[in-house]
Amino acid sequence: MKAIILAGGIGTRLRPLSCTRPKLLFPVLNKPLLDITIERLAKAEVNGLTLAVKYMAEIFMQRYGESKHGIKISYSIEKKPMHTGGAIKYAEELIGHKEPFLVLNGDIFSTIDYKALIAQHKENNAIATIALCKVEDPSRYGTVKLTKENMITQFVEKAPLGKAPSNLINAGVYVLDPKIFDYIPAGRPVSIEREVFPKLAKENKLFGYQFNEIWIDIGKPADYLRANRVLLDNEQQKHLFGDNVKVDSDVEFNNPVRIDSDVTIGQNSKVGPYTILGRGVVLGKNVSIENSVVFPNATIEDNASVRGAVIGEETTIGASAEIMEGCVIGDYASIHPNVTVGKGVTVCHSKEVTENVANSDRII
Ligand code: GTP
Repeated sequence: MKAIILAGGIGTRLRPLSCTRPKLLFPVLNKPLLDITIERLAKAEVNGLTLAVKYMAEIFMQRYGESKHGIKISYSIEKKPMHTGGAIKYAEELIGHKEPFLVLNGDIFSTIDYKALIAQHKENNAIATIALCKVEDPSRYGTVKLTKENMITQFVEKAPLGKAPSNLINAGVYVLDPKIFDYIPAGRPVSIEREVFPKLAKENKLFGYQFNEIWIDIGKPADYLRANRVLLDNEQQKHLFGDNVKVDSDVEFNNPVRIDSDVTIGQNSKVGPYTILGRGVVLGKNVSIENSVVFPNATIEDNASVRGAVIGEETTIGASAEIMEGCVIGDYASIHPNVTVGKGVTVCHSKEVTENVANSDRII
């Protein structure tokens, strides 16, 4: 079985952290999301993977090379962004016409049973089978009208609130028959959701596979934090440490927490709940951090506090600084001591912040 992962998006909604790394390499429980996805594909006996890349393509090629977890990896490198459908068409030669193949949006974490999805696709003799999951607010996604026989008779992308045909959304995981290539025009960007699925639905060639396993999209900072939170909840071990973690006296951990290797935590600090510290992170004394993800090698100095934020790689949060809910601090940024960064602020990578920042401001 072959699979293609759509990995070429710019990830504008995850800026500024996506300015310095592709969205698919954001760490989820301290591991790049794409590593987790490839491991899951290997378990489902996928043996050939095409990464459809454009933005920061070379980072993927350097990191994954020609194979990973026994899966042979090829790269479809777009000259311009081809969007979801266009990217699949662009990879036609690498995928070939022999058998159905899996397609994954790379910015999704899911524990979906790929084998069951593939089996259902084959039973229905479909051109496309879309994995579907139920959500409360489907307005951000593609929604479907599904018959009892799992045939999709209507596919609507981002229907206005109250106008969606159901709460079943396109989970960004599909099985496609090679006949799909005849439905995608070549040489230009194509949205499979807007141009191809609605057409297949009209022709009764589109099917759905409902699943109840975990499904999380990491597209926006709040989603990204939520993904880490859900997975921490889902872990058996609520308090997991890597190697060589140094914890000073009177540190309070409120589970769940996940601490990677080589982390140092100073006296009287409070860590958690829902806190993930990447490799080499240093917390000073009396630091308080909760509901946050800290990327590797960041430093949070004495008496600083961080709540509900994502802190980039090698960032410094100065002594007694306060980082409030919804903040995203880019890599290598420096927040000076005693500065308060208000709710929902984004700070671009490498910026120095020397004064208090008002809620929702953007430091660019
Ligand atoms: P935003 O800019 O924040 O919307 O993110 P994005 O650019 O990643 O777009 P979106 O979230 O809609 O993309 C869904 C999936 O498709 C992600 O895994 C993207 O990497 C991928 N994707 C989006 N556009 C392209 C493209 O032009 N080419 C390829 N190969 N993949 C794409």
